[in-house]
Order: sequence, then structure tokens, then C-alpha cells
Amino acid sequence: MCMVTFDWKETDAKEKAAQFKKKRTMVWAVIEVTNSCNFNCKWCYASSGYSSNHMSKENLTKLVGNLADSGVRQITYSGGEPTMYPYIREAVKIAKDYGFVVHMNSNGYLITREMAKELKSLGLSQVQTNIDSIDPKKHDKIRGKEGSFQRAVKALKNVKEAGMTPVCQTVLTKMNENEIFDIFKLGRSLGTERCRTWDMMPVGFAKGKMDLRPTNYIETLKKLDKFAYENGAIHIESGEPFFPLDYETNLDITNIPCVARAGLLINISFDGEVYYCVTNREPMFNVFKDTNGETLEKVYRDKLAEFVQLRGILSKCEGCEFLTKCSGGCYTRRKYSDGYDYWCKDRIQSS
Ligand SMILES: C[S@@+](CC[C@H](N)C(=O)[O-])C[C@H]1O[C@@H](n2cnc3c(N)ncnc32)[C@H](O)[C@@H]1O
Repeated sequence: MCMVTFDWKETDAKEKAAQFKKKRTMVWAVIEVTNSCNFNCKWCYASSGYSSNHMSKENLTKLVGNLADSGVRQITYSGGEPTMYPYIREAVKIAKDYGFVVHMNSNGYLITREMAKELKSLGLSQVQTNIDSIDPKKHDKIRGKEGSFQRAVKALKNVKEAGMTPVCQTVLTKMNENEIFDIFKLGRSLGTERCRTWDMMPVGFAKGKMDLRPTNYIETLKKLDKFAYENGAIHIESGEPFFPLDYETNLDITNIPCVARAGLLINISFDGEVYYCVTNREPMFNVFKDTNGETLEKVYRDKLAEFVQLRGILSKCEGCEFLTKCSGGCYTRRKYSDGYDYWCKDRIQSS
């Protein structure tokens, strides 16, 4: 995943990477508990909208137990919009009772003070909410929902007040790349101690919208590193294969190039489908149908290896001097451009 997070404080998100470095098995699960969403984002990779496509409570309970047996340390609830999942409270509690670090991706629209307090008391420790522009009208337009900017700002404040970690996150596109420093500043002024960027992938509702891709995600990350360092940040968590590569960050960094390819992150949809990556919706197997008595960890490892082999994900990289550093880059970016990611050997040679 191309997500990069700049940290102003120590967080419980670090634990999974430490665990992964020891065990090299999946340690993080993103569960899209519902495909229902009250927003209509221009770039939604999950193509979510109003629907009643939820994971049943029984399946969720079974799944969380299986993830615990498989050694997973962190669960992030996502969607769709997880606050629209009828069993979100139970989902947080079940995961907490198993000892997971529990986070949530939410547009924040429904996160009132009361809800934030309740979710915190049940075991949620972090909420990621997008701010996609400092201009409320522009943010609302990107997210397809009037009033969404004000509610996102309020949600981040409510999350902070309830004692959880609010994360200000942004999908970087051509529409907002010139605002990213101001978005980080806004996030910081709201009390967020983590600011995150995603490289916009042209999938789901954004399929084919290559014109929305940011001009140069990696160069922006380098500038953000300098900016964050000068503004008191302490750490970076990077899943971006190309950040850093030839670049020495100013900040302490935890870098696992492509958490999907590395096998660190399992992404599970409301119907049990496991996708290669949140932004690459190619299914690998179904957690409710295809495990045949084997542990989820083993099935995931085998299916991932098979997927990488069948798609020839690394075959193009044979002999490339950067392979050990970038792990093959981002398969999704390669798939939706011309088969090559930033820094690919052929490009370097031809430049
Ligand atoms: C699909 S949403 C689901 C959770 C929730 N509804 C929300 O708004 O956060 C999860 C997050 O993925 C990121 N995202 C969505 N589509 C993306 C895309 N095409 N490329 C990169 N990131 C994307 C956004 O930051 C979004 O907030």
C-alpha cells in the first residue's frame, strides 16, 4: 500500500511492524465490514454507496477469532463507511477482547462526541478521517457530500477529546497536491498527531481517471518529510515501496515496501473476499469458503504466493538492482500505467 504516515507521537500502530520483522507473517487485517456508505467520493476504490451489504455478525465473530489464531495484531475496520455497519460497536469490542489494536477508517460524518466516547470505551484507539482540501466546498465536492468538511473537522476533534488518536489523511490527487502542506497544518491545528497521505489509485470509482493522479507522489513525500521534521514530527510509517529508496529521511522511519506484496496486510471485504491490496480489487480467495480447515495464515500465505507467481508480479523485476529495496514496487500502479512503476530499470536506462 502506498500509504505514508507522519507521526508527532509514539502510537500503537508501530507494534505490527515490529511483529512482522520478527515473524514475516500477516500481522494486520483491514476488514471492510460493510459496502454501505453515506458518501460518494470521486476516487473510492471500494465503489461503495448506499446498500445493505454488510458482513454478518456471526461471520465477523468467526473471522476475528481466526485472525487471532493466525497471529494478527491489528485490525482496522473500514468499508464502505464502518459507522454505518449495524454491529460496529460489537465489532470493536470483540476485537479488543481478543487483544487486538483496533483502528477505524471513517469519513467522520456520524462520529459525534458521544459515539467517539463510546467507541473509545469499547476499545478503539485510532480513527483516520480524510481532509481532502482546506477549502470546505472543494472537500465536499471531492467527497460527494455537502457538509462533510465541517463534520470531518468535528470528528477529528471528538476523537481527540475522547482520548483516541485522530489521523488526518488525504488522498493525494492533482486536485489537492498543491494544498498538502496546508492540509497537514490544518490537521495539526486540530490536534492530530498523525498525518497521512495515500497515492490516488485509478480503481473503483476512479477507474481510468489517470488525470487525477498526483504529479509526483515521491517528490511530494520528500518535501513532506522536510516539512514534518521542521515542524516537530518524530517518525514516519511508510508502506510506499519508493519512499525512501535513494533518499535519507530526516525522521526515524519504519518502512515496509508494499505491505500487500510483503504479506503483512490481509484485506477482507464484507463478503469475505480477500483482495491483493485495498487499492487492487483482484480477489485471491474467500475467508468463509476457501480455507478448508487450514489456518487463515497458511491459506493467505499460499494464495498470495500463487497470485504473485500467476500474475508474474516479480518476473519483470528479475535482475533489477533495486528489487531488494523496493520489492517490485507497486503492482497496482504498474497495472494501471504502462507496466512500469517509478524507478523501473528500463526507465532509468532510457532516461
Ligand atoms: C474506501 S474508504 C472507507 C472508509 C471510510 N468510508 C472513509 O471515508 O475513510 C478508506 C480510505 O481509503 C482511501 N482511498 C479511497 N479510495 C482511494 C483510491 N482510489 N486511491 C487511494 N486511496 C483511496 C481514502 O483515504 C479513504 O478514506
